[in-house]
Amino acid sequence: MALSVNNLVKLRKYPFIAFLFFIILFVTFFILTTNTSQPPLRQPSVTKTIPTTPSPLPLPLPLPLQETVSNDSTETVINSELDDSDSGEGLGYEWKVCTGSLAVDYIPCLDNRKAIKALRSRRHMEHRERYCPKPNPKCLVPLPDGYKVPVHWPKSRDMIWFDNVPHLKLVEYKKEQNWVKRSGNYLLFPGGGTQFKEGVNHYIQYIEKNLPKIGWGKRTRVILDVGCGVASFGGYLLDKNVITMSFAPKDEHEAQIQFALERGIPATLSVIGTQRLTFPDNAFDLIHCARCRVHWDGYGGKPLLELNRVLRPGGVFIWSATPVYRDDERDKKVWKAMVALTESICWKVVAKSFDSSGIGLVIYEKPVSSSCYKSRKENNPPLCDENTRPKTSWYTPLDGCISAIPITNTWPTPWPQRLNSKPLSLSTDPEAERVFHEDTKHWSELVTNVYIGSLGVNWSNVRNVMDMNVGYGGFAAALSDLPLWVMNIVSVNGPDTLPVIFDRGLIGIYHDWCESLNTYPRTYDLLHSSFLFGNVTHRCDVLDVVVEMDRILRPGGVVIVEDNIQMLNKLKHIFRSLHWSTSLHQQRFLVGRKGFWRPETKR
Ligand SMILES: C[S@@+](CC[C@H](N)C(=O)[O-])C[C@H]1O[C@@H](n2cnc3c(N)ncnc32)[C@H](O)[C@@H]1O
Repeated sequence: MALSVNNLVKLRKYPFIAFLFFIILFVTFFILTTNTSQPPLRQPSVTKTIPTTPSPLPLPLPLPLQETVSNDSTETVINSELDDSDSGEGLGYEWKVCTGSLAVDYIPCLDNRKAIKALRSRRHMEHRERYCPKPNPKCLVPLPDGYKVPVHWPKSRDMIWFDNVPHLKLVEYKKEQNWVKRSGNYLLFPGGGTQFKEGVNHYIQYIEKNLPKIGWGKRTRVILDVGCGVASFGGYLLDKNVITMSFAPKDEHEAQIQFALERGIPATLSVIGTQRLTFPDNAFDLIHCARCRVHWDGYGGKPLLELNRVLRPGGVFIWSATPVYRDDERDKKVWKAMVALTESICWKVVAKSFDSSGIGLVIYEKPVSSSCYKSRKENNPPLCDENTRPKTSWYTPLDGCISAIPITNTWPTPWPQRLNSKPLSLSTDPEAERVFHEDTKHWSELVTNVYIGSLGVNWSNVRNVMDMNVGYGGFAAALSDLPLWVMNIVSVNGPDTLPVIFDRGLIGIYHDWCESLNTYPRTYDLLHSSFLFGNVTHRCDVLDVVVEMDRILRPGGVVIVEDNIQMLNKLKHIFRSLHWSTSLHQQRFLVGRKGFWRPETKR
């Protein structure tokens, strides 16, 4: 007899019916109460494990990847979207927008007026350095009126929405130099600059003509542009496979770095002041300063010693400024001081010339060994004592000494082979090279199979990317064929892998995520965090980091977090309270999408 409810009733199997009912009730209850972010049931899948190997460095090691491939080839992830209309109320967070005249462009550690006002000196640009408010602000930055999804790359290099960065001072102030112009709803960037009278491309060619061995995009890959203006130099060098860390302070060149980032050009806020730049020693292949207004010989020559510190041995410094080519008393005096200073640190002039447009430049080369330092008549500036010299470059005062040149020192392999070759600064531990290659392979597979293939991110809208916790930079390396760039962040409290990042031909900075970053609001399209939060939460609240992520992420931007499920659940809760849509994948990746929502608070 077939088993049906009717038959069971007829046979009076009431205890069995009650048991069956209880089981159904229990199963329904179980489904409803377990993780509601997953759909009830999905076809089971084939799982494949990508092995990973331990690293000699205590890096945030990737977990073995449970790559889920469902029977339906279009559905490779367990995915659930939150309705963007979710109010966030009842989640325990009461958000407020930041108020005041600076609120829209608020950068907590650079806009601390109280701390700046209390400074005893501004002579060495102290007022452009970092002073972080305590406790961290918890307010959300408001949007500028009329803010729109930014213009996409590559169009954005030449034009951005005026409403997104509504600042007009440079339009007026640098009118003759073609930095930026207004045209209706747009700001246009014609590629001009103080020293680029005939356009930036002409200037780039002029440099190469003066020093053919420069080999843009091959020998010379990672460069630093000091006092970059709107970063047109770096923006145009991208065409030559050169990646430039452009930087300038938050000064009267109003919103220059904000323009650069809105254009999709790598840039950061920083200053040559009294502290080390947040880069490792021997990092950049080339440093450039076009009238960057730094008094290299001032402050006991410490600013130039800082350039010497971050310049790779054998690397060059291009100085394009009036003392090189003008004859008035002031310029002559500066030139004389520069000659004495550069000679004292063994920099050699490898080119000096004048352009048809009336500008001129000099190119200096840093030595590749310490032998010249030892044969100087005077030990001035002295060589640094590497035993007592601070190792970190985070709130570290400028050195008054010459940093050491590593004994084993060769120029990196030409780009693009450089990206995956053994980095020069990798630990000499025999295991290190194997782990480095494993790590590169791991990230290449993870990015292809999961990040690009399965997380539902539209990568064609992504231009400015930040990896918040980079390890060896495998994430950035795996994305190197896409038309985007990655700012690699190495935590000041973890293993120092930033030299490896530069050796690979990538860019990055040191940072502490318990503080706010030196960037404007709404400057990144995608933030990636792989096992960052465990380390941060020993020292500050997860909420501090999320508020900062909200500040720097553009509306419409995406956050991808890889972490343990407890942390992901905690983050999901906070993301939802910010009205971000979220989706959880494989219990291991959380994707958050920021919308245009801001709390209803009067500014
Ligand atoms: C005259 S503009 C030149 C801009 C650009 N290099 C060009 O050629 O168009 C001077 C630049 O130097 C920057 N600057 C001034 N003092 C600086 C400092 N101490 N450290 C770094 N940049 C500085 C300014 O913010 C500005 O970007």
